[in-house]
Amino acid sequence: MIIKRLVVIGVGLIGGSFALALREAAAVGSVVGIDSDPANLEQALSLGIIDQSASDSRSAVSDADVVFVAVPACSISSVVREIATALAPGCIVTDAGSVKASIVRECEALIPSGCSFIGGHPIAGTEHSGAAAAFAELFKGRRCVLTPDAQSNAAALQTVSSLWRAAGAEVCCMEAEHHDRIFAEISHLPHAVAYALVHAVGTADVEGENVLSYSAGGFKDFTRIASSDPVMWRDIALMNRDALLSSIDGFSVSLAELRNRIDRRDQAGLTEFFTRAKLFRDGIV
Ligand SMILES: NC(=O)c1ccc[n+]([C@@H]2O[C@H](COP(=O)([O-])OP(=O)(O)OC[C@H]3O[C@@H](n4cnc5c(N)ncnc54)[C@H](O)[C@@H]3O)[C@@H](O)[C@H]2O)c1
Repeated sequence: MIIKRLVVIGVGLIGGSFALALREAAAVGSVVGIDSDPANLEQALSLGIIDQSASDSRSAVSDADVVFVAVPACSISSVVREIATALAPGCIVTDAGSVKASIVRECEALIPSGCSFIGGHPIAGTEHSGAAAAFAELFKGRRCVLTPDAQSNAAALQTVSSLWRAAGAEVCCMEAEHHDRIFAEISHLPHAVAYALVHAVGTADVEGENVLSYSAGGFKDFTRIASSDPVMWRDIALMNRDALLSSIDGFSVSLAELRNRIDRRDQAGLTEFFTRAKLFRDGIV
């Protein structure tokens, strides 16, 4: 057992899966769940994701070893603000937010001395939400990025790393700003493009035909992530605004280059463009 008492605030896909994975690995003694949606919390209890539910976050965290904050990214700092002065001495607070720099900056400033904050982002997910979508294997073989900085407590980092490893994840550490630039490219841009593509095709008018009714495997594969929670992606887009704008600008250049080669009927240029992209893609699957 790594810790005795874990409090999960936000028992949804990520919070619920973390609790399930740690319970399955016998890495935690007990798990207390807190959620602003009473029906979701009730479901988490009945599915055996948590041992107990609590309605008062401040009293629930008062004897926690670790608090895992897995609420929408834009609410993480306000949740930490609410619980900060009620934390037990030595308590470690960590999070799952998909954007890191602003969360780490705000949360580190809120945590009292004697307690620690370690930013985290598991690189795993599905397009589904809530406790019912949680499963213990979600993090198996996936990376979890932790974003400690010079003021982070080494023992706290060690504990959070051990928990993620027990949940099946491979832990890597990087600076929060570096994380945000990387994930703007590899995660936030693809979601933005998928949403924009479905938007463009969904509103396309080809002699009054419903174009989407002709969608086949390719369109569905490519746009699966546009079924993700719109509010979560609104928050990520705004919280990582600068890095995402820069990624969208880079993508616009690439799309303009492709358009240009099509416009010029540039056979060699198009073959080169598609071949280079295929090589990148084949390299990751
Ligand atoms: N879904 C993914 O693919 C993914 C991947 C990595 C990280 N994340 C991050 O994990 C976090 C959770 O995402 P999720 O996919 O599990 O979402 P989710 O909607 O499945 O779960 C979030 C839960 O938090 C609860 N909640 C919302 N505000 C709250 C508050 N103020 N106090 C208490 N509970 C509150 C909701 O009722 C919900 O049950 C987000 O910060 C997200 O950026 C998500």
